[in-house]
Amino acid sequence: MQKNEMRSLLERYDVPCPRYTSYPTVPYWDDPPATGDWISSLNKAFESGNTPYSLYLHIPFCETLCTYCGCNTKITKNHNKELPYVEKLLKEWQLYLEKVPALSGAPLKQIHLGGGTPTFLSADNLKDLLAPIMQAASIDSDEFEGSIEIDPRTTKPGQLETLRELGFKRVSLGVQDFDPKVQKMVHRIQPFDMTKDVTDRARALGYNSVNFDLIYGLPGQTIESIEHTARCTIELMPDRIALYSLAIVPWIKPAQRSFKDEDLPKSNEKRALYERARELLLAAGYIEVGMDHFSLKNDALNQSFDDKSLHRNFMGYTDQRSDVMIGLGVSSISESPDCFHQNEKELPRYEERIECGEIPTLRGHMLTEEDRVHRQQILNFMTQYEVEFIDAQQRADVDEFLATMQADELVEIDDMRLKLTEKGRPFLRNACMAFDQRLRDSKSNDLVFSQSI
Ligand SMILES: C[S@@+](CC[C@H](N)C(=O)[O-])C[C@H]1O[C@@H](n2cnc3c(N)ncnc32)[C@H](O)[C@@H]1O
Ligand code: SF4
Repeated sequence: MQKNEMRSLLERYDVPCPRYTSYPTVPYWDDPPATGDWISSLNKAFESGNTPYSLYLHIPFCETLCTYCGCNTKITKNHNKELPYVEKLLKEWQLYLEKVPALSGAPLKQIHLGGGTPTFLSADNLKDLLAPIMQAASIDSDEFEGSIEIDPRTTKPGQLETLRELGFKRVSLGVQDFDPKVQKMVHRIQPFDMTKDVTDRARALGYNSVNFDLIYGLPGQTIESIEHTARCTIELMPDRIALYSLAIVPWIKPAQRSFKDEDLPKSNEKRALYERARELLLAAGYIEVGMDHFSLKNDALNQSFDDKSLHRNFMGYTDQRSDVMIGLGVSSISESPDCFHQNEKELPRYEERIECGEIPTLRGHMLTEEDRVHRQQILNFMTQYEVEFIDAQQRADVDEFLATMQADELVEIDDMRLKLTEKGRPFLRNACMAFDQRLRDSKSNDLVFSQSI
């Protein structure tokens, strides 16, 4: 393909677009469950008695703010906040155990600690949080997957050891970029040796999967700087890499207003950063999995992509599927087969409601039958690059909606299936919009989603 043609495609298709970590996407949740409805939906999901579930624990604290950050964080250096927060998480979990009795016997497949920065918590507090939850749960230690997002800048002695003793096997390191100039521009100084040291220590302790989070589109990034980042990454050979597109949402994250327009790569320059990093990663033996993810050939993520069992949830791509995910902590999102549920997003309000013995419901969405069909279709397209139409009417509708993308050879319709072409890879999210009935029925997406490229 000519460079000019790709440049023109990138410009034309760079529109506000969801990341499709859920469907319906959060801005279109319009049927909020009362806490009682959410609990009923969980009790229904556990009726069969053997439903596996996952836990997500959100630790919001970070010592300093990285200016690109889009996560739900609370910036503080006050570590006295750790213990009261851990107590709130445990209290919240106790509320679930009381209200959903079947949880005690159901298999706990996964615990993921995310943030913010889970390594803000000391080793002792991590243990005090996890040990009681894990001891009371039904866990098959061979199948159990414990994972944590760690910031090498705040990883303290004892944390990795403690988690490993508890049976955790996966770590995900926030890296973002190895170039000191870029690191300075985004207020995140993290020397190569610091990342190497944590990677080596995790491996020596027996963690069997190390992931690096990288971002393309950061201020100051150039082809040379992304080559440097890709080469440093390859030197350390993490099992998995998430190479995220920088989501720019200054109306939600005002710190992003500190970026100067001229420092931010434009859509075609931004994609060129991805393509160059991709080229180097593929040459080093990585396989591209889904959107923005890479893994070594023998990693479970690639194997699940091959056998079409790859899954996607609020944390991104995963090889572990469970229909029930309970999120604990401020702003956490939970999911059951027919309901989404989000906790209070402001820390004082979250803490207050837990103190009152309430599940801190902020909002959520009861899925309609149509939502569930579209959720599965979008999931299939995001994980397998193809999806089957439910009927001839949907085929005709998608055919019309994606006429331009078909003419540009980004997608093709083959009998009753929609397929993404190789050329269409950068536009996966754009094509998903064909199945996003709620977005299509709405009038405006302005100031809701980041750009698709
Ligand atoms: C909770 S952080 C990871 C753990 C820890 N806080 C750290 O930064 O090392 C989750 C990841 O989200 C990604 N991220 C944060 N803000 C982003 C944005 N605006 N666009 C794309 N990815 C973003 C980063 O790659 C980051 O590593
Ligand atoms: S990227 Fe990580 S460390 Fe930086 S502010 Fe966001 S959550 Fe905190």
